[in-house]
Amino acid sequence: MNNFPAVDQIPLPAPVWLLKALHDLTFSLHLASVGLLLGGLTLALVFAVLGRMRDSSVMTETAGMLIHRLPNVMAFVINLGIPPLLFAQVLYGRALYTSSVLIGTYWISVILLLMGSYYGLYVAADRAAKHRTWVAPGLAALLLSLTIAFIYSNNMTLMLHPQSWGAMYLHSPAGLQLNSADPTLMPRWLFFMAGSFPIAGAAIMLLSLRDGLRDELSRFMTRAGGLVVAISIVCQAVLAQMTIASQPQNVFSTVMNDSMYRMFAFGWLTTALLLALLGIAGAAGKRANALVAIAVSTVAFLNVVSSVMVRDGVRDVTLRSVGFDVWNRQVAPNWSVIDLFLILLLTAVVVIAWLVGVVRKATPADSLSVEVRSAQETYV
Ligand code: HEM
Repeated sequence: MNNFPAVDQIPLPAPVWLLKALHDLTFSLHLASVGLLLGGLTLALVFAVLGRMRDSSVMTETAGMLIHRLPNVMAFVINLGIPPLLFAQVLYGRALYTSSVLIGTYWISVILLLMGSYYGLYVAADRAAKHRTWVAPGLAALLLSLTIAFIYSNNMTLMLHPQSWGAMYLHSPAGLQLNSADPTLMPRWLFFMAGSFPIAGAAIMLLSLRDGLRDELSRFMTRAGGLVVAISIVCQAVLAQMTIASQPQNVFSTVMNDSMYRMFAFGWLTTALLLALLGIAGAAGKRANALVAIAVSTVAFLNVVSSVMVRDGVRDVTLRSVGFDVWNRQVAPNWSVIDLFLILLLTAVVVIAWLVGVVRKATPADSLSVEVRSAQETYV
């Protein structure tokens, strides 16, 4: 029996390939921001605590520089989460709405958890700037964000399994349940959590290039960033293997039979290998190297894109096996609206790039000196 609600009578306003391409692009940006947030916050906490225990100024300074940036990163996480949510609802609404209702109480609680986490980040950054201990609010923000990610993984796995929906609804129509019986859930969540660290390590290597940092600090940051990238990508590869092994029979082999998804699966492996090598190069370097840092960051983003594409294949193959073919939708493209949308998107990208340029130019004159000074004086 097909458990999916009836398909919407209104045709899709744009071709499926275009909606999927926009979804995957914006979701990659969301996931990269999530990596900066979760990886950056975890590393900031580790450096803050270790820095205090070992009386290491470079560690506390690195922690200070990270925590100061995280409230802004959270803004990117949220704003870059909205577009993929809209595209996913258009494409997979019949599955995604159903699973969202089934875990409804937890799903709605994401809003409160998000507000709590955002607040925790602001408190932590503010306390750090005032040279007061910020570990407690930082830790609270991290735990809340990890919970949000866990709820997302619950929803994204439950939407693939209409066989469980009926029993789950009977069990708790109030939506007070998670998809905990699903064997794909934990490895998948851990895979995405581990994926935060190569991105965060790359960001620390980029930060080490900033003007005004003394040599010792810059060297520590580039080495620590490289080490984090190299170690975490190996851990993520192990989790990738566990995630694949947890998939229902034939799902991954069917994904690999598709030439595009196969290319991205090998793309993930290649970028992972490159990250391990570049991470080691960064960790062994005597000073921050712009070429290595930029290469690591580019490859880390391509690695995220590859994960997103393979994840897309796993979703489509799993849904097709239970009677939901995302490509099998009526389409009536409204090209004038699509053109307007693409023009606005392009304009927004240009404006954001310009704004980032303005912020960068403003930094050395005022905020960086304040930031480095406060980071140097920051303690946990
Ligand atoms: C601290 C906040 C957040 C964290 C840590 C986080 C983390 C994650 C993770 C790990 C996933 C992948 C789940 C999986 O596939 O197993 C995910 C998916 C997703 N997130 Fe976020 N997220 C956060 C906030 C948000 C917000 C505020 C939005 C939207 C407004 C959002 C939109 C999405 C969407 C749409 C997906 C799935 C896309 C798809 O499957 O099509 N996220 N998020």
